[in-house]
Amino acid sequence: MDRRFPTGFVIGAATAAYQIEGAAAADGRGESIWDRFSHTPGRVARDQTGDVACDHYHRFPEDVGILAELGLDAYRFSVAWPRVIPAGSGPVNGAGLDFYDRLVDLLLERGVSPQLTLYHWDLPQALEDAGGWPVRATAEAFAEYAGVVARRLGDRVRQIATINEPFVVADHGYGRGLHAPGRAEPAAALAAGHHLLVAHGLAVAAIRAAAPRAAVGIVLNLAPQHPATQHPLDLEAAAAGHEVLNRWYLDPIVGRGYPEEAVRRAGWRHREIRDGDLALIAAPIDFLGVNYYSRRVVRSPLLPAFDTPSVAPERTAMGWEVHPAGLVEVLEFVRSRTGRLPLFVTENGAAYPADSGDPSRDPERLRYLHRHLEAALTAIERGVPLAGYFAWSLLDNFEWAHGYDFRFGIVHVDFTTQQRTIRDSGRFLGSVARGHLLPALDARPGEEAPEMGPRASGPTGRPPRLPGPEAA
Ligand code: FCB
Repeated sequence: MDRRFPTGFVIGAATAAYQIEGAAAADGRGESIWDRFSHTPGRVARDQTGDVACDHYHRFPEDVGILAELGLDAYRFSVAWPRVIPAGSGPVNGAGLDFYDRLVDLLLERGVSPQLTLYHWDLPQALEDAGGWPVRATAEAFAEYAGVVARRLGDRVRQIATINEPFVVADHGYGRGLHAPGRAEPAAALAAGHHLLVAHGLAVAAIRAAAPRAAVGIVLNLAPQHPATQHPLDLEAAAAGHEVLNRWYLDPIVGRGYPEEAVRRAGWRHREIRDGDLALIAAPIDFLGVNYYSRRVVRSPLLPAFDTPSVAPERTAMGWEVHPAGLVEVLEFVRSRTGRLPLFVTENGAAYPADSGDPSRDPERLRYLHRHLEAALTAIERGVPLAGYFAWSLLDNFEWAHGYDFRFGIVHVDFTTQQRTIRDSGRFLGSVARGHLLPALDARPGEEAPEMGPRASGPTGRPPRLPGPEAA
């Protein structure tokens, strides 16, 4: 049966500046932590960098043309802070702002709504040199940058998100050193996490002052944490994972403060929290973005690992389990905290190897998107105020520490020629956006329908060997 999206539901695709723009040294752009990190041998697969990436900085008219051709309603992109304020704070680089100005105008001209993210991980290196996110001054610099961008673009951009995935920034960047700036300092990660939220709060005020018409929000990566078995230790580990991933950032944003148990477990002495911070972080927002890729099946480290899976779950090239029901679960959980606040799926998608014969063919990705759009509809039917869905990603791109190995695009990119080829999943998403209708997909024989709703008990079987989606 075909299913219809509510009127006004937004369907789009997402990207991030460092992953697609290239032109790393063009027009006065400053160095970011991802330039430094990717140019440090051994940090990124095959020592690849975002120097050229999809060369979107020069090819954006073609990319906007693709969005328009597909008929997508909206485009979520990020602004590179070091293009706009090369040293992170201080002088503004007019040429950098001009680029985004042209991008926004062209999107509007082609009927695609621009949705902007201010921070998708490319901190100006100068700020990292001064201490980075573990230092409070970085949050203040972010508010200054937010004001600059909002003043210039906030008359035309309807939605501005402050920070993308603060969990990943703090955990991967400062806690485990997997992402730029590559620091493995747990105490610094805790400080970074708090300052990211302070940055968000300060930026909300700066954006409201500069662009009163823009809707302001933040984007969190969330994933259900399901116990591998009903063993009390697995249950405990899953509950702890839930607090750290799903509540650590969400709870303070909705005014509930940090989850106390998790804070205690992490040994955070929270000396960084100043009077007034929690109120600042809980400043009212207009929407919340949720990035959803998969769930995590949690096995206690105190128990022996499983060796035989009862049923091998379907996985993407990243090793992430395909689990659309988790999207419903996550959205319902968020709704339990945010009530009527409009929610967006700001990222959802899957990496699969390119079809070497025909780059437009991607049946697995199409099916992944279809199943998650179905889950989005189910969430809506259950009363979740979901207002839009963005596929990750418009283009194959620089997948952070994995380099170019993992392709998420609904558009294939040949990184030698920069040729773009629209994939079947892109055409499919465009057709859904045009008609606001999700066609029934022929179920493969023997396949179970996606289960919906929170699980009372966890699955049995082997926990994924590869890191979960929060370890992107
Ligand atoms: C998310 C990031 C995004 C992309 C996807 C696969 O965590 O926000 O940039 O890398 O994962």
